[in-house]
Amino acid sequence: MTPEQLVQHALEARQRAYAPYSNYLVGAAVLAEDGVVFPGCNVENAAYPSTICAERVALTSAIANGSRRFTAIAVATSNGGTPCGACRQVMAELGLDMTVYISDEHGNFRTTSVRELLPEYFGPEHLPA
Ligand code: THU
Repeated sequence: MTPEQLVQHALEARQRAYAPYSNYLVGAAVLAEDGVVFPGCNVENAAYPSTICAERVALTSAIANGSRRFTAIAVATSNGGTPCGACRQVMAELGLDMTVYISDEHGNFRTTSVRELLPEYFGPEHLPA
């Protein structure tokens, strides 16, 4: 799976976004170690805080489908917007070593990582034993 192909999955997932309130469509695609891709899109709610971001939909769907080890995630928005803080924290929990591709709606993307996006993440080592 090339970065371009994973970005393409995120762009396709973006088409399925349910975002009638913000009209900001977001798609994501998580690549598992075994090559399986899990898509996600943002799903908004009239009770705004009940909205869930594309990245967390993709990651939680991957977990629900039995996958645990991920190598990359692609995120696609209209303008190359970066993942929100909550999504960064969830990425750190579930895929700390993931490469992150951040794409605009035309498939122009840049490459970063979870560690770069959230260097001082809160991790399990901060919890008392
Ligand atoms: N959104 C995402 O899906 N991912 C992010 O990382 C940032 C924000 C969604 C949430 C909401 O549906 C819309 O974008 C505007 O905030």
